[in-house]
Amino acid sequence: MQGIPPAIVRKAIIPVAGFGTRLLPISKAIPKEMVPVVDRPIIQHVVEEALKAGLNEIILVTRTGKSAIEDHFDTHFELEASLEKNGKTALLEMVRAIAPPELKVTSVRQPQARGLGHAVFCAGQLLQPDEPFAVLLPDVLVKPQPQDERDDLSRMAQQWAATAQAQIMVEAVPREEVQRYGIVDCGGEEPAGGESLPMRGVVEKPSPEKAPSRLSVIGRYILPYRIMELLSDLPPGAGNEIQLTDAIARLMREGEGVQAYRMHGRSFDCGHIPGWLAANATLASEAGY
Ligand code: G1P
Repeated sequence: MQGIPPAIVRKAIIPVAGFGTRLLPISKAIPKEMVPVVDRPIIQHVVEEALKAGLNEIILVTRTGKSAIEDHFDTHFELEASLEKNGKTALLEMVRAIAPPELKVTSVRQPQARGLGHAVFCAGQLLQPDEPFAVLLPDVLVKPQPQDERDDLSRMAQQWAATAQAQIMVEAVPREEVQRYGIVDCGGEEPAGGESLPMRGVVEKPSPEKAPSRLSVIGRYILPYRIMELLSDLPPGAGNEIQLTDAIARLMREGEGVQAYRMHGRSFDCGHIPGWLAANATLASEAGY
């Protein structure tokens, strides 16, 4: 609706129901989201990213065996009491900072593994009618460039506020890797880093010959509520799974504006061993370890 500013995005849906097969054997008995990168679990990095962008209501889409994630963001009364009693103030502050007062964490279950679109849809019941939301895929860490404070997710939230158009974070990948990602079509143009451009289409895991560009969806989305309605009757797509990408493509076919936001920071795919090791090596050395 013209003239009415879009609602501020507060909720971030984080799907955490995956098995993490690419991180086995590490992820056999612990959730892959609890695997550490440098000094904290992957999921803590992602929640910190959300909070920085003003997304303080986290909805975890989870399943059995993943309760360590919820425990991580819950108060640990015995630990805090012990640290306080022993005067370990710095440690106490560090533990408390994992879940600052503004952070609200809720969870819903994904009863069957039917794809990313289905996982996102499971969280729909926790949104208000017409409430926009973010989706953050926790396999991927998004970090600013070294010595650079500019934050991509905050910038995306600003673009949403300015345009009321869905924002999909993208970055360029080599053509031979396009079939691992959603690939966007910006009509032959490419947004500059930190900027958004209107999208004409998006396709899930295309072959290199059919890919409309090399701009891949890297797992950060700001979406209108309409996506939930579109997901409710979406047939399975690529990989026989219900694809979030297909719902976004439908939104565009309805005539709604969707924009590709090109990151200026860096992404680390921690969902497989080489990417996880690279994230640790790079970020640990930058942190002075
Ligand atoms: C999902 C999305 C895909 C996106 C990717 C980013 O795929 O469906 O569009 O490019 O995450 O990591 P998945 O990796 O779950 O197969």
